[in-house]
Amino acid sequence: MKRVLVLNGPNLGRLGTREPEIYGTASLEDLTKLLSADAPDWQIDVRQSDAEPELMGWLHEATDSKTPVIINPAAFTHYSYALRDAVAMLSSAGVPVIEVHISNPHAREEFRRDSVISPVATGVIAGFGFDSYRLALHYLITLDK
Ligand code: DQA
Repeated sequence: MKRVLVLNGPNLGRLGTREPEIYGTASLEDLTKLLSADAPDWQIDVRQSDAEPELMGWLHEATDSKTPVIINPAAFTHYSYALRDAVAMLSSAGVPVIEVHISNPHAREEFRRDSVISPVATGVIAGFGFDSYRLALHYLITLDK
């Protein structure tokens, strides 16, 4: 069975109630259901952590097992060089790693316009709500055909 790790950074465990005017009212559990329905023959492993070392451990695990990753680094997007280096390792191992965002960070505060992750990601999808994740998954499925 094909597998994808869907990693989510800080505060995304609060989806459903977190600033619904920006992030909507659906939860990570809803996201898991959506992605599983889109790709019934894939194992969709959705994880969330507020802690940088935990996210890095998961990225290292993906690098070792060559598992593709969809990652919403949340606020770490804008300043975590540690996470960037872990994403770079995955990319350099030839494993696709797609950065996604629910909102369009470019249409928000100035500090959100910079991503330290984007230069080392395979690609970036932002601004489509949970469809950002679905589009990323669609890319991985296409790649697999
Ligand atoms: C986010 C955008 C980030 O700027 C923010 O810190 C988040 C969520 C998004 O999905 O739109 O936590 O990554």
